[in-house]
Amino acid sequence: MSRKIMIFDTTLRDGEQVPGAKLNAEQKLELARQLAKLKVDVIEAGFPASSPGDLEAVGRVAREIKGPIITGLARTVQEDIDDLWESLKHAERPRIHLVLGTSDIHVEKKLRRDREKVLEMGVEAVKYAKKYCPEVEYSTEDASRSDFDYMARTLEAVIDAGATVVNVPDTVGYAIPEQYGEMVRRVKESVPNIDRALLSVHCHNDLGMATANTLAAIKNGVDQVELTMNGIGERAGNCSLEEVVMALHTRKDYYDAHTDIDISQIYHTSRLVSSLMGIPVQPNKAIVGSNAFAHSSGIHQDGILKDRSTYEIIRPEDVGVQSHEMILTARSGRAAVRHRLGELGYDLANEVFEKVFIRFLEVADRKKEVVDEDLESLVREEISSVPDIFSLETYQTVSGINITPQSAVGMRRDGDVITDAAVGNGPVDAVFNCIERISGVSAKLVSYDLKAVTQGKDALGEATVHVEVDGKLLTGQASSTDVIEASARAFIKAINKALAGV
Ligand code: KIV
Ligand code: ZN
Repeated sequence: MSRKIMIFDTTLRDGEQVPGAKLNAEQKLELARQLAKLKVDVIEAGFPASSPGDLEAVGRVAREIKGPIITGLARTVQEDIDDLWESLKHAERPRIHLVLGTSDIHVEKKLRRDREKVLEMGVEAVKYAKKYCPEVEYSTEDASRSDFDYMARTLEAVIDAGATVVNVPDTVGYAIPEQYGEMVRRVKESVPNIDRALLSVHCHNDLGMATANTLAAIKNGVDQVELTMNGIGERAGNCSLEEVVMALHTRKDYYDAHTDIDISQIYHTSRLVSSLMGIPVQPNKAIVGSNAFAHSSGIHQDGILKDRSTYEIIRPEDVGVQSHEMILTARSGRAAVRHRLGELGYDLANEVFEKVFIRFLEVADRKKEVVDEDLESLVREEISSVPDIFSLETYQTVSGINITPQSAVGMRRDGDVITDAAVGNGPVDAVFNCIERISGVSAKLVSYDLKAVTQGKDALGEATVHVEVDGKLLTGQASSTDVIEASARAFIKAINKALAGV
């Protein structure tokens, strides 16, 4: 029978300690509602003694969120505990969370007391908190750098005083998985009353090992893990909720442990945290990064199209990612491009598809990624059934302030390249004049429109022209990362229509 691991979410407390990520009460409430939907077991809503705003925010979360345990942080001083209880007292399931260091560095340098005095402060604080609330969690801050025997003695004493959860944090991200797992195992073996409390871990990511350390603790019997969404938190962050939850989900065979998290809410929760806190998620972030389920190499794309299990260990839709994103690049093959076009609703004839594919390769050479909008723009360009009587081969323009804009254009017709040069009142006009001279078609420009297809400096520019030839209105549209090239192609399309009598 697999073991249940309790998920303690501290996005609203440790996560919120990131500079600039402060939330107001309304925003905390919105996020807390989503955390309840995600089905975390515990929400740490804040640190009420830190500010009146947080006192109010924790109070609102405690009053309004039903289901998870609601907790908040307090130092082991009566004023903090009073403030915390003021916030928590209306919660359906309140828990007081106390913190006090056990490492000599904290005891001597931060608290400036001796070990025994600090132990006594901890015990007194638990007793005080117990008067308010039956559930009290006690964190031995900087546990991973503490003398083990002293820390174990502290755990025993606070459990005797009434602590129902004890937490042994890796506050500064110093631990390494084998050592941390071993520490958890020793706590379970050597603290005589540990069976009267739940054992919890809380890891920071200073050496990039928060997830590995948390999983090592789970392997060694811990009951609760403290995490944040997207791994946000002090310095390099806290252990990431989505990583631990999905590791347990994906590797049940190894951990034989589960959580109650509704994994289909993971992606949405991640987006909400990112947008409310204004902290972008790095593209390659495990589980929730924009590239987490993107396959860009031709070999991988081919494998995915044949069977997704070839390169995917998690189905994106399981964590709530709506569309399966396949990034098209210069290395993508015909199969991937055709597949994506099919998903976008285009079933192109082979001949048209070939034209789109050639254009796709040209664009992909200039742009790192070809996104859906680019692809659709290329389809719009090639979908007309007008024959390519003329096509653009080369162009050059010279323009600037106080010089006459000039251009030289080469256009292919029936295997020959015809070149000519012209001036104009701007580079686009000069190119259009050249095209008229080479094609022998006199076209009056009725309208000219240029827009970026996507955002970013490497976006495709899409040009649309309306021309009048012999009283007939004709349009042409084309796109390129080079807007003059896009304009020239669009103009040539309209000229081709005139020549083809379309
Ligand atoms: O990192 C830490 O030790 C903490 C405690 C309050 C659990 O955040
Ligand atoms: Zn922390």
